[in-house]
Amino acid sequence: MCGIVGYVGAKPALDVVVEGLARLEYRGYDSAGVALLSDGRLATAKRAGKLINLRKALTESPPPAGTLGIGHTRWATHGPPNDRNAHPHTDCGGTVAVIHNGIIENFATLRAELEEGGHTLRSDTDTEAVAHLIEDELKTAGDLAEATRRVCGRLEGAFTLVAVHTGDPGLVVGARRNSPLVVGVGDGENFLASDVAAFIAHTRDAIELGQDQIVELRADGVTVTGFDGLPAEVKEYHVDWDVSAAEKGGYDYFMLKEIAEQPRAVADTLLGRIGADGRLTLDEMRISDQELREVDKIIIVACGTSFHAGLIAKYAIEHWAGLPCEVELASEFRYRDPILSRSTLVIVISQSGETMDALMALRHAREQHAKLLGICNVNGSTLPRECDGVLYTHAGPEIAVASTKAFLTQLVAVYLIALYLAQVRGTKWGDEVFAMVQLLAQMPEKVEKVLETMEPVRELARSLAGEHCVLFLGRHVGFPVALEGALKLKELAYMHAEGFAAGELKHGPIALIEDGLPVVVVVPPRVRDVLHDKIVSNIQEIRARGARTIVIAEEGDTSVEPYADTLISVPAVPTLLQPLVTTVPLQVFACELATAKGHDVDQPRNLAKSVTVE
Ligand code: M6R
Repeated sequence: MCGIVGYVGAKPALDVVVEGLARLEYRGYDSAGVALLSDGRLATAKRAGKLINLRKALTESPPPAGTLGIGHTRWATHGPPNDRNAHPHTDCGGTVAVIHNGIIENFATLRAELEEGGHTLRSDTDTEAVAHLIEDELKTAGDLAEATRRVCGRLEGAFTLVAVHTGDPGLVVGARRNSPLVVGVGDGENFLASDVAAFIAHTRDAIELGQDQIVELRADGVTVTGFDGLPAEVKEYHVDWDVSAAEKGGYDYFMLKEIAEQPRAVADTLLGRIGADGRLTLDEMRISDQELREVDKIIIVACGTSFHAGLIAKYAIEHWAGLPCEVELASEFRYRDPILSRSTLVIVISQSGETMDALMALRHAREQHAKLLGICNVNGSTLPRECDGVLYTHAGPEIAVASTKAFLTQLVAVYLIALYLAQVRGTKWGDEVFAMVQLLAQMPEKVEKVLETMEPVRELARSLAGEHCVLFLGRHVGFPVALEGALKLKELAYMHAEGFAAGELKHGPIALIEDGLPVVVVVPPRVRDVLHDKIVSNIQEIRARGARTIVIAEEGDTSVEPYADTLISVPAVPTLLQPLVTTVPLQVFACELATAKGHDVDQPRNLAKSVTVE
């Protein structure tokens, strides 16, 4: 979704802002623009399409040099992605420039009011109204921060706004409600951005902004107040990764790098959580053991890939912790009437911590007094701040739109939570928990082994680049893995791909099978005899009808060989942990197939890294 950058300091602002926008490209966008203040004058440049178009325009017609600027990458909501609708938007006099992330729901009313009052609006966006409203408020407000504060009071919906005004050329004002915004604190310079990647090359010291806060950014200081004008308490933090983590490091795509980083990401997520005695300690849990013992139901809410991690969590929680567990898409959860109480634990899983549907679901659960636990990868994001407890996944920055290492670390996090619940509630003996934790600790090595054997998967993917449809089947925890494999292929290769529970095959999906149709089947370990044998029967059923079977099974499972057109072997691991090794070939498969089709796997069409609007 939209990316925001603001800078004030001593460096050439244009360079800092455009470099920041480049680091936010991964969020997904379809136009870009900048505004600079120089000698009390405002200069803007904006272009539809990728940043390269804006760079070209800036080279052809360079704006006057300045040390204060703002920049924006827009993911179109109101109005098509053209030059006119790109941000920044300015007021009638060209003295105020505004950029925005989110949706202003009452913009039509505000726009009508502005037009009646004599303003001329030049774009189709909801954002432009804000520039004109600030223009009006500046007549009486005295300063830009107060004018912005007053305007925020009139806006409905989600918004992060950043504004500059020629009347105060050393000031950048930011306002935050629901959409992300963080401050980067430098030496004689300060930054504003949708996420820290935009300024990580300059500073790793950051400030989280809370809901309904206004920040005034000057070269020599940062002031944060609430929408009510009162001083706000802020949380400072140090980013624990550096600029190299947000660079490709020799890989052609971030996605390739992130797939390769998975053993390390899994290890980092386990780090410090397993005591010498094998007991788990989850420090950031902030929900007491007594409260966890009182929990009688768990509901997991998430979107996309994080939802698939939630589906796998259900099996682990029910099996290890003996607690009923429901999993729900965040976008559906809040629009029904879920039955929650003080003894319900709601777990919200979100890589970014900024997915609007997940945050709204969280707030819905909070209103009903449920306990809230977040699983999140981004320090300083909204989700951890609004939860009672949090378990961070230490995947490092995930830049590619398609989630890979974040997913594997989310799995580690849900396993840790399920085992921790078992430990606290006594549903498993201490030595049983210890044994499982030991197996979990071996997972980085197992994932590494999978990665070492991926060349045949890449070859297979290239050979299927001309196909139009691929099906994925799985049972038990293999079912969410099948859903995840299909999602990866849809978002990267733009192909029809569906994941099914293999047991449902004869209830409908088998009608899709035709000669040569590639079907990927995730086979459970042989130790689960019943399920294993049933899925081997499913493979035979689809093969008899002409399917081209691509079978993922544990090494040494010779029983599937006769029915597999292609066999992908993964290390043998316990059933519940198997998604950690079976997902990886599906990531590699989708990435390679999409690359063979000539797609940009880091920035697939129409998609944004974090969906910060509904
Ligand atoms: O940041 P989140 O985990 O909340 O994001 C949820 C989904 O938008 C995300 O997983 C999406 O499905 C990915 N593109 C999948 O690869």
